[in-house]
Amino acid sequence: RGVFKTIWRITQITFLGGVAYLAYTVYDLKNPPDQFEPDPSKKTLVVLGSGWGAISLLKKLDTENYNVIVVSPRNFFLFTPLLPSCTTGYIEHRSIMEPIRNILRHKKAAVKYYEAEATKIDYANKKVIIRDDSEVKSDRMETEVDFDMLVVGVGAENATFGIPGVRENSCFLKEVGDAQKIRKKIMDCVETAMFKGQSEEEVKRLLHMVVVGGGPTGVEFAGELQDFFQEDLLKWMPQIKDHFRVTLVEALPNVLPMFSKQLIDYTESSFKEEHIDIRTKTMVKNVTDTTIEAAITLPDGSKKTEIIPYGLLVWATGNAVRPIVKDLMGQIPAQKDERRGLKVNEYLVVKGTENVWAVGDCAIANYAPTAQVAAQEGAFLARLFNTMAKTDEIEKDLVDLSDRQATAKADERNEILNLITERQKQLRRIKQVGPFQYTHQGSLAYIGAEKAVADVSWFSGNIASGGTMTYLFWKSAYLSMCFSSKSLLVLCSPIY
Ligand code: FAD
Ligand code: NAI
Repeated sequence: RGVFKTIWRITQITFLGGVAYLAYTVYDLKNPPDQFEPDPSKKTLVVLGSGWGAISLLKKLDTENYNVIVVSPRNFFLFTPLLPSCTTGYIEHRSIMEPIRNILRHKKAAVKYYEAEATKIDYANKKVIIRDDSEVKSDRMETEVDFDMLVVGVGAENATFGIPGVRENSCFLKEVGDAQKIRKKIMDCVETAMFKGQSEEEVKRLLHMVVVGGGPTGVEFAGELQDFFQEDLLKWMPQIKDHFRVTLVEALPNVLPMFSKQLIDYTESSFKEEHIDIRTKTMVKNVTDTTIEAAITLPDGSKKTEIIPYGLLVWATGNAVRPIVKDLMGQIPAQKDERRGLKVNEYLVVKGTENVWAVGDCAIANYAPTAQVAAQEGAFLARLFNTMAKTDEIEKDLVDLSDRQATAKADERNEILNLITERQKQLRRIKQVGPFQYTHQGSLAYIGAEKAVADVSWFSGNIASGGTMTYLFWKSAYLSMCFSSKSLLVLCSPIY
C-alpha cells in the first residue's frame, strides 16, 4: 500500500508540476518582458518577407545587435505544409497562422514591422521602396527604407508559364486566401450542380475537379479533396456519387518526381484505388472558364489534343520569380545570366553584392525550394549575423585596447597585452562560422485516404515508406511543429 501511495503522490506532483509549467509558459508568452529600443548607431538590417526563411532568421536573431526592420504584406507566418488541409476545412486556417507581431514582441530589442509590399530594391543607394497595400486608405502610401544590410526572403509566385487563361480562371494554392477561395469554389460547384434542371453534361462538368501539376502541392490537394468527397460530400449529397471526379494532370511521365520510384508507384496505385484519375504526359496549353486544352503524348510518341471540361481548376505547377527579385537581378551584373532567382554563395550572400543575402524560394543555392531549406537558411543567417555583431564588437575593443596600450605605463602594459591576446583568441573562435550546409531530413507528402509517403534520411541511408503508419508519422511531425506553444496562443488570439 505504501508503494502505491508513493507512486500516486509522485503522479499527482508530476501532474501539478506539468500544469504549473504550462500555465507559466502561457503566462510568459502572453506577457513578455518590456523591450528596449536598439542603439540607433548600430547597422540597419532590413528583412523582406514573413515566410519560412525570414521568420526562422528573426526567431534566432539577437535583435539588440542591429536596428531590425521587417517589411512584408502578410502580417503572419503561414505553416504551408498544412495549407492543403485548409481547402476542405479539415484544418482551420487560423491554427496554421502565427501573427508576426506576436513573434517580434518576444525579441529582446524592439523590431520595426511595416505591413507593406517592397516594390523596388535600389541596390546602389541602399534603399527599399515600400508600399502600404491595405485598403483602408484610397491613396496607397509609398515610402523608402534605408538599409546597411538586406535579407531578401520574399519567396516565389505561382508559375503559369504564360499559358493563356490560367490567371483568370484557376485557383492557386500558396496563401490562406487561396485555400479559402478553393473551399468556396468546391461548394459552389457542388451546390450549382444540384440546382434544378441542369443537363447531365453540365452536372458532370461542375463536379469535375481538375488539379494541374503532379508535384507535392497538386498530389496533396487531390488527396485532401477526394477525402472530403468520401468523408463529407458523399454523406451530405449521395446524388453526386456517380459524377464527382478528381483528375490530376501532369506533363511528365509520373507524379512526385522528387520521390523514389517505389513511392511514385505507391502513390499512383493508391490514387487508382481512391478513384483519383492521374493523367500523366498531359501538358495543359490553354485554359478557358470551363475547359482546359491539353496536349497528350501517346505511347507511340505521337500527340493528340484533348479538351477537358472542369468545374474547379487548381493550378499547382511550381514557382516563378517575383518581379522585385527580377528587378534586383537586373541591377547586379553577376546575376544577369540567372533566370530562376538570386544566385547566392555558400554564405547566402547574393553574388555580386556584399550586403545583400537571400533565403528560401527566391534564392538559388542548388537546393529544392522547400520550407526545410528556407528554415535552415534563415537559422544559418541568424547565427552568421549574431557572429558578425560579436566580431564587430571585439574588433572595436581591440582598437581601444591597442590605443590604451600605446599610452599605458609599463606596469599596465602586460595586463593590456593579456587582454588583447584573450580578445584575439575569442575573435578567431567566433570567426570560425563555416559555410551554410543543408541537412536533408527527408520528404513527406500526404496522399489522401489516411496514407502518406516519406523518403526519410536515416544515418547515411534513406528509408522509403508509404501507408497509414507513414501518415501517422506525417501527422504527428507536422502537428507537433505547428501546434508549438506559440501556435496554441494563436488559437486564442483575436483577428490578425
Ligand atoms: P514564403 O514562405 O513563401 O514567404 C515569402 C514571404 O514574403 C511572405 O511572407 C510574403 O508575404 C512575403 N512577400 C512576398 N512579396 C513580397 C514583397 N514584394 N515585399 C515584401 N515581402 C514580400 N515545403 C516543405 O519543406 N514541406 C512541405 O510539406 C511543404 N508543403 C507545402 C505546401 C504548399 C501548399 C505550398 C504552397 C508549399 C509547401 N512547401 C513545403 C514549400 C514551402 O512552403 C516553401 O518552400 C517555403 O514557404 C519557402 O519559404 P520562403 O520564406 O522562401 O517563402
Ligand atoms: P513542383 O514544381 O514540385 O511541381 C509542378 C509540376 O507541375 C511538375 O511536375 C511539372 O511537370 C508540372 N507542370 C508544369 N507545367 C505543366 C502543365 N502546363 N501541364 C501539366 N503539368 C505541368 O510544384 P509544387 O508541387 O507547387 O511544389 C513547389 C515546391 O514546394 C517544391 O519544391 C516542393 O518540393 C515544395 N513542396 C513540398 C511539399 C512537401 O514536401 N510535402 C508540399 C508542397 C510543396
